[in-house]
Amino acid sequence: MVEVSASILNVKGENTIQTLYNLETAKIDYFHIDVMDGQFVKNNTVDKMLEYCEYLNSISNLPLDVHLMVKDVSSYINSFLVFDPNIITFHLEAAESKEQVLKWIKTIKENNIRVGLSVKPDTKIEEVKEFLPLVHLILVMTVEPGKGGQKLIPKTIEKIRALKKYVEDNQIEVDIEADGGIDAENAEEVKQAGANILVSGSAIINSDNYNEIVQKLKKIN
Ligand code: DX5
Ligand code: ZN
Repeated sequence: MVEVSASILNVKGENTIQTLYNLETAKIDYFHIDVMDGQFVKNNTVDKMLEYCEYLNSISNLPLDVHLMVKDVSSYINSFLVFDPNIITFHLEAAESKEQVLKWIKTIKENNIRVGLSVKPDTKIEEVKEFLPLVHLILVMTVEPGKGGQKLIPKTIEKIRALKKYVEDNQIEVDIEADGGIDAENAEEVKQAGANILVSGSAIINSDNYNEIVQKLKKIN
């Protein structure tokens, strides 16, 4: 069974609590927290994501899947530690050196949180291979990071397939999460390529039946 991590980036302000509650009852597996600093990507969602995490901490026990689209990874790790997330993922492209990647991995692990490493669509998987044995999850962006509601970039599915083959051939235990533009139409192809966690934002939030779309995304034919 594939897991679904619901992006709450586009949850509307007016009935946030109700929406978050409806997502939980639709049996999502994670809340996907899209933290954007206005530097690594144009948008800034920090305050909104901190507010939503406050809510979630008081109304839900579902694990938080924090996706940092930020330059200053260390300080945002600290800002979100307080919510005791299940996963904190940072972008390889935010690092200026291998040492910095290793330092961030260590910081997250020291707090008993699973480590995710994310790559943008144009970043080659060769660039992450050396880190795969050290992380719990690879977050393959299937859109350019920075906003919700975009179309999945088809070439990224091949990247997931190649990554899956590599981790299997090398017996590396790592989750492969796909993020961006995922909906009922393309989910099957993304799962068949090897993703075992699907992030979905607008496909769920814009639907009129959360349970139905979440089950569709999870099902493997
Ligand atoms: C984009 C985010 C994604 C996005 C997913 O930068 O990382 O998580 O919000 O939303 P949809 O499913 O609408 O692309
Ligand atoms: Zn995301």
